[in-house]
Amino acid sequence: MADKQKYYITTPIYYPSGNPHIGHCYTTIACDCVARMKRMQGFDVMFLTGTDEHGQKIEKKAQEEGTTPKAYVDAIVENFKKLWARLGISYDRYVRTTDDYHVKTVQNIFEKLYKDGWIYKSEYKGKYCTPCESFWTESQLVDGKCPDCGRDVTDASEEAYFFKLSHFAPQLKELLLDEEKDFLNPKSRVNEMVHNFIDSGLQDLCVSRTSFTWGIPVTFDEKHIVYVWIDALTNYISALGFMNDTYNDYEKYWPADAHVMAKEIVRFHSLIWPAILMALGEPLPKKVYGHGWITFGDGGKMSKSKGNVIDPFVLCDRYGVDALRFHLLREMVFGSDMPYSNEMMFNRYNADLANDLGNLVSRTVAMAIKYFDGTLPADKEFTDADTDLVSQLDALQPVVSDTFGTCRFSEGLEAIFKVIARANKYIDENEPWKLAKDETAKPRLAAVLYNLLDAVRRVTILLTPVMPHTAPQIFEQIGATEENTGWYDSEKKYLLPADVTVKKGPVLFPRIDVEKELKELEALAPKAEEPSDLEPLKELTKFDNFAALDLRAVKVLECEKVPKSDKLLKFKVDDGFGERQVLSGIAKYYKPEDLIGKTLAMIVNLEPRKMMGFESNGMILSVRNGDGFRVIEFPDSVKPGSDIS
Ligand code: MSP
Repeated sequence: MADKQKYYITTPIYYPSGNPHIGHCYTTIACDCVARMKRMQGFDVMFLTGTDEHGQKIEKKAQEEGTTPKAYVDAIVENFKKLWARLGISYDRYVRTTDDYHVKTVQNIFEKLYKDGWIYKSEYKGKYCTPCESFWTESQLVDGKCPDCGRDVTDASEEAYFFKLSHFAPQLKELLLDEEKDFLNPKSRVNEMVHNFIDSGLQDLCVSRTSFTWGIPVTFDEKHIVYVWIDALTNYISALGFMNDTYNDYEKYWPADAHVMAKEIVRFHSLIWPAILMALGEPLPKKVYGHGWITFGDGGKMSKSKGNVIDPFVLCDRYGVDALRFHLLREMVFGSDMPYSNEMMFNRYNADLANDLGNLVSRTVAMAIKYFDGTLPADKEFTDADTDLVSQLDALQPVVSDTFGTCRFSEGLEAIFKVIARANKYIDENEPWKLAKDETAKPRLAAVLYNLLDAVRRVTILLTPVMPHTAPQIFEQIGATEENTGWYDSEKKYLLPADVTVKKGPVLFPRIDVEKELKELEALAPKAEEPSDLEPLKELTKFDNFAALDLRAVKVLECEKVPKSDKLLKFKVDDGFGERQVLSGIAKYYKPEDLIGKTLAMIVNLEPRKMMGFESNGMILSVRNGDGFRVIEFPDSVKPGSDIS
């Protein structure tokens, strides 16, 4: 038997710096859909996913939680795997960058590139934030300060290894612009890469770090660790056994047929990764797909830090795994962003799944039971009235194969549901209920029902990669078996047995009460915390600093507004030892006359300050109250000059 054709597809390896969310689900479901379709089509598939576990961010997170980086990532990796199991992700291999074989490959590659002269030692110059121990480029700074902590940065340099990325600029440009290769999709990303990165001058890449330790050491210079992106990208070949002894699949599966990811990391996959492979003299991946983002609320990429994440486990439990898979693949137009919306999911579910597909299946099965006790007679009369439906079904398979195979799932699903709508129309056109009344029309009725069952069979085959849990239930209802539920080609059209027997089953897609569900989900959503208007607590100070302040009760003798100031009140107060003048910025909250005669709290030993031409000797204490301030008052019995402690 001839060897099966291979197909190798990868997701990015995700950072286990937090639990997976809907965004990660999208890419992983997309790859799963392609992998499942390719398997159905007879390919020998390798579907790889995994986690990118090194780097300073993970090291910091672990420190914050008082644990080791490895223990920290172990726990999160479990959650990734749990979610993938829940979503029916059929990955063949899961790579962790902390796996020994991966570490070995990264170290071997780094050594080889160094020996071959593609990696060299030099000086890394940049802006350095000492508390964060991080180097930044000028363009990464925010208002000239560290983007992480906002503190000052200084010019600094350190020894580092560099990869000769600049050398590959012409080859990379050629690769990206080669129309036949069609390396990067969608096409808009090609211009972005060529224009923003290659044409503006591709710099050599700093590929080692010394400022933290959670990473893969450079074997010949152990204080350096390998830059996390070199470490990460290598996963695509380490997991096949390139330069390690754990696996032996490199010859078989490399080059990858598809690297799938969102747009923000296309740059690494379409410039750095091919350049590394070129330097190694290895074949390049065939395709890179950069889809858009699922966005949330403010249009940004949904991230853990924004809280408000839709819990995929909750959605699967309430509406079914396949409803979520379908929603993401149907609504996300390849290349564009998609604002996440449960409402959109419910509406599409009701229209496409509950109505169009669900009804087509239940009506067809119900009619076969009603008119033929569930088993169709062999005698059938096919007519020209069947041609349009059948030819639409014939044309559908190549469309789905092409669109799914190039990550254009929404297009493929749209095409499938057009044919489902066509099948529903076919029922109305042929009016089986009328045929049933005429004994001589039984062969025609049988043909109509057969065509409908076959339409259900064929669209369900095409939907299997998207809805792998529901498809078998549909097949069971329409009496389809393993023999006639494989990915079909045009030669094998009518494979349902002529005397097929249907079986009534449970409702496939119960209708969703949109209003009710939205309310219930809202109640389940974690409440966003009210933003605090409290000043953050200050750092600890010595007791002496407090003791140095002289706090006293003072009695207000006079009070008036400072001319031309809408903020300041001018007081004459009795401090127990004499009279003094003090100013306070509370004019918006008090009428001067209301304060006369009150006993207030005051710091009396502050150095004098001039405000609006008047000297202020001390500070009247007040407390924030909503948007305003209230003075701190004492009862009349408190004598002016009494000390506060
Ligand atoms: N570790 C790197 C990838 C290394 S690959 C050699 C990384 N990890 S990540 O956890 O940040 O994952 C980013 C990827 O997750 C995106 O490229 C995309 O595939 C997926 N997504 C994460 N959030 C997403 C959205 N909001 N929308 C769509 N995809 C999202 O980058």
